[in-house]
Amino acid sequence: MNVLDKIKGILPKKENAVEPEIAPAPVSKKGENIIEIKGITKVFDGVTVLDDLSLGIKRGQFVTLLGPSGCGKTTLLRLIAGFETPTEGEIYIEGTPITSIPPFKRPVNTVFQKYALFPHLNVFKNVAFGLKLKKVADPTAKNGVRKYTKAEIEEKVNNALKLVGLADYGHRDVNSLSGGQQQRVAIARALVMNPDILCFDEPTSALDPELTGEVLKVIRELKSGDTTMVVVTHEMEFAEDVADKVIFMANGVIEEAGTPEAVFKNPKSEKTKAFLASRKNV
Ligand SMILES: Nc1ncnc2c1ncn2[C@@H]1O[C@H](COP(=O)(O)OP(=O)(O)OP(=O)(O)O)[C@@H](O)[C@H]1O
Ligand SMILES: [Mg+2]
Repeated sequence: MNVLDKIKGILPKKENAVEPEIAPAPVSKKGENIIEIKGITKVFDGVTVLDDLSLGIKRGQFVTLLGPSGCGKTTLLRLIAGFETPTEGEIYIEGTPITSIPPFKRPVNTVFQKYALFPHLNVFKNVAFGLKLKKVADPTAKNGVRKYTKAEIEEKVNNALKLVGLADYGHRDVNSLSGGQQQRVAIARALVMNPDILCFDEPTSALDPELTGEVLKVIRELKSGDTTMVVVTHEMEFAEDVADKVIFMANGVIEEAGTPEAVFKNPKSEKTKAFLASRKNV
């Protein structure tokens, strides 16, 4: 059993976990793409950062997103998560257009380059934060919803911490942790929400090389049958090794996409070739 299946075993089933009053509109689960990006353009201050970009991501796929600095990788993730709105185009999750749905109502959690933990909360409270706000459907409760109990929160947080190798760290001050440990807390904080889509934006680029390995190992272990993962990374070996699909972006468009084998071993685009060659010398 893989790691995410393990956590799902202790989490309530999806249909019980939604908050009825904030859940997205009913969706059709047709089609194999959980994320469908159609003709997205994003303009910042008159500059086109994403240019009529279209992309489908299958349910359960592990996608790595590569490309030179400034090509629009973070912007694309922020659009999926709902922190940006497209200038043109639409993003669908499970067949539902999501542009008007705010981030907290999307089945998406993101781990950023800088872990942005709450400095005044300990490890446990950092991971528990989102769960405390979440409501669970419960037909026996008033209004049909209730909050998670203290015991439920404790179980979920402890399991998430276990999955990132920080089982005994709940009481620790986050400022007393190494960068790698802090990033693993950030991963636990995303995981504990049991998202359908888990995004990572260069999760190791703020870390020393020796700490990078421990975080990549955790992400690798999360590869699962039913959680879709989109990972922006400059770790080429990792991107090639773990991905089901590799997307190479340049200048706001998808320059090339395919299996790791196709993109890394047999790139078609000159820009991809040049990028891969440049990364070999890093
Ligand atoms: N809020 C914003 N306002 C103005 N310009 C922005 C904003 N966010 C991003 N940009 C610009 O959009 C372009 C794409 O940025 P983005 O952060 O998506 O690139 P990236 O591929 O993630 O780069 P990196 O590898 O350096 O993280 C850049 O030129 C950036 O300056
Ligand atoms: Mg970026």
